[in-house]
Amino acid sequence: MIKIITYGTFDHLHQGHINLLKKAKALGDYLIVGVTTENFDITRGKINVQQSLMERIEAVKATGLADEVFPEEYEGQKIDDIKRNNVDIFAIGSDWIGKFDYLNEYCHVVYLPRTEGISSTMIRSKKNVKLGVIGSDPSMVKLLNEVDYIDGLEIHSVYLDSAMNKRIVDFPLAKDISSLLKETDAIYIACKPVDRYKYIKLALEAGKHVICDSPVALKKEEAEEVFLLAHKNKLCLYDSIKTAYSLAFSRLVLLIKSGIIGEIKSIDSTCTSQEMYDWLKETNFGTSMTIWGPFGLLPVLKILGTEYKTISFNTLHSTEMKDIFTKINFTYDNAVATVNVGVGVKSEGDLRIAGTKGYIYVPAPWWKTEYFEIRFENQAYNKRYFYKLDGEGLRTELVNFVHSINTGNDNYYLEEKLSKKVSEILEAHNKAM
Ligand code: CTP
Repeated sequence: MIKIITYGTFDHLHQGHINLLKKAKALGDYLIVGVTTENFDITRGKINVQQSLMERIEAVKATGLADEVFPEEYEGQKIDDIKRNNVDIFAIGSDWIGKFDYLNEYCHVVYLPRTEGISSTMIRSKKNVKLGVIGSDPSMVKLLNEVDYIDGLEIHSVYLDSAMNKRIVDFPLAKDISSLLKETDAIYIACKPVDRYKYIKLALEAGKHVICDSPVALKKEEAEEVFLLAHKNKLCLYDSIKTAYSLAFSRLVLLIKSGIIGEIKSIDSTCTSQEMYDWLKETNFGTSMTIWGPFGLLPVLKILGTEYKTISFNTLHSTEMKDIFTKINFTYDNAVATVNVGVGVKSEGDLRIAGTKGYIYVPAPWWKTEYFEIRFENQAYNKRYFYKLDGEGLRTELVNFVHSINTGNDNYYLEEKLSKKVSEILEAHNKAM
């Protein structure tokens, strides 16, 4: 019996895939198909895959062409699979010519002609979401650069809000807000924190999906109102705390929830920057809490929850700014937390999470880390975790934003209640100053 093996992502299974499977099967008697896992795809830079592993496996099975289907999880697995299954032929599409010649050592490698004119990328890009941008926060430039990596998303035009220094951007400029809203499907809001609520409302009322820099609003009531409006109009409203969407941070949260360091007793998170201070002063753009608050608060609210017992603030000011550094202290039923945020003060931007069995250390700048350590008293059990971070979390966020628009699914990475709590805390801090 001649055994053939082939691999692929098989997202939105299409005729090109079916032709490939047929040609592969025709080379022998028994066809084995490896389908890539989400994790493996992310680590090899394929971030746009829309269907889950199970959906893709089921689709391959439903073709009736494969005798065996299993997940491909790690680099180098192909050699293991070929040896373990006594495979005779490794077959793959001609877009991979030369890339798998190294497998000739284990079996016969065949490159099959690829079907022209169809691909998963084309299917994902069929319904392009036209994105308009409002604001001129420097973070906007990051977004403009990231969109190239996202299937099914294009920048339509940019509206530079007048309150800010005009910047030159390489995209068409909208002449006013109403033409921007008329010609787009979704809006990215990257303006001053104080103006975001107003623009979110405008966009949602015009029937546009919204992705907004964090915080989305400076008052609890305003945050509640915009999320309610999004629900009513069946629109997506994404709060863009980029770290929440990064692979390292979301894996860290899952590890903690699985009990790896026991019960969580203390969290210390610090986010500071000094470079922006002069610019922030000049433009009156924001302060420690409105710039860094959502990032600093993220691990505390995500891990210990939004139901703390007490909260208190200590804020330092300069002659030009009301809040150059704020320390927030939380008490929970059985835990405590501290968040330090600053725009006129620089400190070590690390994250420490202490549990009853061990602790997690995320080095500075923890909010864009690719790496963290789980440490125990007995160092032999220490473990290091490395993850790939594409576009500081923004790329994953945009992929999920497009996916939510197309499917109506909720934001998986950042719960609405967390965003609302951030606004509530900012409001309380503002009142306490
Ligand atoms: N394939 C093919 N003809 C196509 C598309 C894919 O023969 N038009 C083959 C690939 O060469 C590979 C297998 O199908 O051997 C699985 O490919 P996959 O990467 O999952 O599909 P693509 O459509 O190429 O996906 P993407 O656009 O995301 O790269």
